[in-house]
Amino acid sequence: MIVTIVGSQLGDEGKGGVVDLYGDAADVVVRYQGGDNAGHTVVSDGEKYKLSLVPSGAVRDKVGVLGNGCVVNPETLFSEIDALRERGLEPDVRVAERAHVILPYHRVLDGIEEDEKDDLAAGTTKRGIGPTYEDKAGRRGIRIGDLLDPDTLRERLEYVVPQKRALAEDVFGVETGEEFDVEHLYETYREYGERIADEGMAVDCGTYLQERIDAGDNVMLEGAQGTSIDIDHGIYPYVTSSNPTAGGACVGSGLGPTVVGQGEVIGIVKAYLSRVGTGPLPTELGGVEGQTPGYDSEAAEGEEEALATYIRDEGGEYGTVTGRPRRVGWLDIPMLRHAARASGFTGLVVNHLDVLAGLDEVNVGHAYEREGEELLTMPPTTEQWGECEATFRTFDGWPEVDWAEVAAEGYEALPENARTYLEYLEAELDVPVYAVGVGPGREETVVVEDPFE
Ligand code: GDP
Ligand code: IMO
Ligand code: MG
Repeated sequence: MIVTIVGSQLGDEGKGGVVDLYGDAADVVVRYQGGDNAGHTVVSDGEKYKLSLVPSGAVRDKVGVLGNGCVVNPETLFSEIDALRERGLEPDVRVAERAHVILPYHRVLDGIEEDEKDDLAAGTTKRGIGPTYEDKAGRRGIRIGDLLDPDTLRERLEYVVPQKRALAEDVFGVETGEEFDVEHLYETYREYGERIADEGMAVDCGTYLQERIDAGDNVMLEGAQGTSIDIDHGIYPYVTSSNPTAGGACVGSGLGPTVVGQGEVIGIVKAYLSRVGTGPLPTELGGVEGQTPGYDSEAAEGEEEALATYIRDEGGEYGTVTGRPRRVGWLDIPMLRHAARASGFTGLVVNHLDVLAGLDEVNVGHAYEREGEELLTMPPTTEQWGECEATFRTFDGWPEVDWAEVAAEGYEALPENARTYLEYLEAELDVPVYAVGVGPGREETVVVEDPFE
């Protein structure tokens, strides 16, 4: 059985927690795209694990695979593995030989290009994700397999590094250091290759997974980011450079769509919106300086700001590294209709229902209005999306309750108004709710359906 987990909004929907929840039955957990731009949280026995690269299943003794669709920074990979070992875990992590490697110059260039782009900047994580996927598509990338083969590694570096140095120095006028030095890179990355070989981590991903499937193992495909920041289906150019949607799970793991499609594709939904980055957001509440277009925090006040602050505080919507406030908004149903179609969701997990508890009313953006027309799904360009006004539906709020108790009792124990909200969502997307997150812990989840059963 194969279960694919896809973020249905803008990332940070609680995918890591869902992988953990359903992952008990999985033998192998595979990341199929993205890199250390992700931040997936797993709370296990009161211990919190923040993983950016190692697949979430590695916290629970599953084999964690970084698929060929990922971009891998070996420095992050080994520091995460070492940190988990220090906490007494023995993560078994494999990495696809076809996966591309993030090199130091990619990170430097990510920073430089973001600064140059001004209004077009996506507010990237500056982890070098975009520049690495650019080199993959430009056929000048370096892959994990190349780190295992010093001659090929040297040949590739000798070709690409002078180009990168010229780009930084001559185009952007930036002085370069060891990040752009062939000898330094060769020595450092050859050593990473040796460690990957010594620890038996390199795999031919698709072949490895097919063998495990043939042997009867359960596989979970763990998406990073979310549909609206997918490079094809998201709010281009304010997107990441990979495909978090379910098609990416096939390409990025080496399993065919008929194999992945025999299983389930679960869309993870946050019960409201949160966004790290720039670009329009029709259901946004209030705003965040530097991210919300045209927002002036000096002039901001009133009920909407107070509501935004409430949701932000209740949901802990502050950057884990920077502490910066995240943008928040009401649930955007056209965005979810788009996501459900693009990935063919067979089930939904709706997280953070507890965060909205205590509000008198809960709104959802049911549709958009643009140029006098009603739209039920996202328009294809971000400029058009920016012109959309959300039309809202209002639901009666639900009270704060003992969520752990509710989770233990099951779906019927959820407050009635919360169930009305969930049932509206099911009807609009024509996809059943499989689970409801009512707190960060694994036991704070109302499970309706387990896709592996
Ligand atoms: P991911 O990137 O999709 O894996 O999500 P993140 O881990 O970046 O962000 C989700 C955050 O919300 C984490 O701090 C989780 O512990 C927390 N979380 C997940 N589900 C719930 C939920 O249902 N309620 C609450 N209050 N927090 C949740
Ligand atoms: P998880 O897996 C939320 C956003 C960045 C930026 C854009 C491009 O934790 O849900 P990148 O560094 O990828 O080139 O940045 O994408 N972004 C995320 N937002 N959650 C994530 O991952 C994200 N990964 C990237 O903020 O707007
Ligand atoms: Mg995250």
